[in-house]
Amino acid sequence: MKDVIVRAEKISKIYKLPGEQIAAVKDIDLDIYAGDFISIMGPSGSGKTTLLDLIGCLTSATGGRLTVMGRDVSGAGESCLVKVRRQFLGFVFQDFLLIPSLTVVENVLLSLYFSRQHQDKKRAINVLNLVGLGQRLNHLPAQLSGGEKQRVAIARAIITNPKLLLADEPTGNLDSRASQEVFDLFKQLNEKEGLAVVVVTHNPELGNQAGRVIKLKDGRLAA
Ligand SMILES: Nc1ncnc2c1ncn2[C@@H]1O[C@H](COP(=O)(O)OP(=O)(O)OP(=O)(O)O)[C@@H](O)[C@H]1O
Ligand SMILES: [Mg+2]
Repeated sequence: MKDVIVRAEKISKIYKLPGEQIAAVKDIDLDIYAGDFISIMGPSGSGKTTLLDLIGCLTSATGGRLTVMGRDVSGAGESCLVKVRRQFLGFVFQDFLLIPSLTVVENVLLSLYFSRQHQDKKRAINVLNLVGLGQRLNHLPAQLSGGEKQRVAIARAIITNPKLLLADEPTGNLDSRASQEVFDLFKQLNEKEGLAVVVVTHNPELGNQAGRVIKLKDGRLAA
């Protein structure tokens, strides 16, 4: 039996605005197992980011039950969510979100600092070698290509040894070659390092390379 990393049971998210309620995610059931490589696709506004943010404990559900590594996080406060994020999850976003004044290796070390771990430079260099950036350690983000920046962001996300890597449109700012390279890196991390990966993408050519494809429509799982 494979280990369950995330179990979502009928999770929903309603955004409450003045005079309006938006049901962004509706009654979604989803299990994510160790070793999974999942893509989430669907039209703009279909709830992909909201679902990923729920799985990633970046926001809380307004209905249903969500467990991450056996911990029930439904209705949990931020201090509980932040612990779960630090311990089990890694994040990659479209905009890389690197610190411009820090070198590649320093950007990766910062992740260890934020997760209250020893800032082990050897470990940072090992991870940067793994993502193919061993020759770029002391570059600043401005001195890197888009694909290289995203690989720094991936190194930063995986140095804490997460159980699950969550990526929201990680190739949205990249050309098609760099996009495929980033996807190949996800595949490599999934197959060789056993990392579970969930990627939101607009690009069916990339999304269909995942082991499991989840399609959303109007906040629900499409058949
Ligand atoms: N913070 C928020 N407050 C209010 N409504 C929101 C908020 N975030 C998202 N929404 C709404 O929830 C719905 C789902 O948004 P979401 O960002 O999850 O879609 P998406 O599938 O990621 O879209 P895209 O492909 O454009 O990134 C949309 O109708 C959006 O307008
Ligand atoms: Mg989105």
